[in-house]
Amino acid sequence: MKKWLNGKTIVITGASSGIGKQLTRLFIEKCNAKVIGIARNQEKMEALKKELGDKSENFSYNLFDVSKEDNWIEFKNYITEKNIKITLLVNNAGILPGFTKFLDVSIEDGKKIMDTNFYSIVYSAYHLMPVIDEKGGVVNICSSDALLSVAGTNYYSASKSAVKAFTQSLKHEYKDKYIGCILPGFTDTNIFRNIEMTKKDKKKIQKFVSPCDVIAKKIFKAIVSRKKYKVVGYDAHIFSLLSRFMPISGANIINGVLRKAKVDLFKDAFDK
Ligand SMILES: NC(=O)c1ccc[n+]([C@@H]2O[C@H](COP(=O)([O-])OP(=O)(O)OC[C@H]3O[C@@H](n4cnc5c(N)ncnc54)[C@H](OP(=O)(O)O)[C@@H]3O)[C@@H](O)[C@H]2O)c1
Repeated sequence: MKKWLNGKTIVITGASSGIGKQLTRLFIEKCNAKVIGIARNQEKMEALKKELGDKSENFSYNLFDVSKEDNWIEFKNYITEKNIKITLLVNNAGILPGFTKFLDVSIEDGKKIMDTNFYSIVYSAYHLMPVIDEKGGVVNICSSDALLSVAGTNYYSASKSAVKAFTQSLKHEYKDKYIGCILPGFTDTNIFRNIEMTKKDKKKIQKFVSPCDVIAKKIFKAIVSRKKYKVVGYDAHIFSLLSRFMPISGANIINGVLRKAKVDLFKDAFDK
């Protein structure tokens, strides 16, 4: 079963950065897979192609916004016209604009989070599942925030909870396919680029943030082993344990700790 992706074609969204970029490298280097990356930033995609060196032929990319259904219809037509056989779709693209209280996020911005993190997955699955190999599948990159919600992540948490529930349902509806849900914890990526952090904050945060390459390797291992549900990162494991055994007080503990930590990162997430 471990070799099911060798030489196959994998579509990865959000391949230009962070977890998606590392996964692209791993699938190409370890499985000799052909990866079709999807993101919007051409410069970053070109840089990744260069980094792949003599394996760069295994990587191609399409630039589009995953939150728009029309783009997925166009992509499906492209796949069909070129007669490309997809074995795996990894829905990884996502955004976390900041840790902000609900009333300070406009409805429009909130919808953008839902569109990017949740509806993109609905569109890609709807249009690509019919053309994915019989024994292939779909993996959705969720978040530990779908287990316990952290203050200031209102829409993000809702979008990831929707991803978790949606994936669970698909898993039971399409027994023959591999449908996976991966829940990483805090990972050191560009997802926090728009969030201002002091040096002191960064130091505090580093204590519970996992390096991106470590998390990507764990996700890679889970996917090649066809794991249907995988929590990755030690903070995510704490979230998982608390959500299972003390769902209400567990969330109180996590949020209490974050409030007391007085980290600038969460300064707009709690009442003063
Ligand atoms: N980092 C964490 O702590 C953490 C924790 C739990 C879960 N996750 C999840 O892991 C996934 C990957 O995040 P990351 O941490 O690797 O973040 P990242 O470094 O910011 O990468 C995000 C990727 O998504 C792409 N993307 C964002 N919006 C897009 C759009 N509308 N259309 C197309 N592509 C889009 C970006 O590409 P372009 O900008 O080039 O379009 C980029 O390649 C996300 O789903 C995130 O929610 C992350």
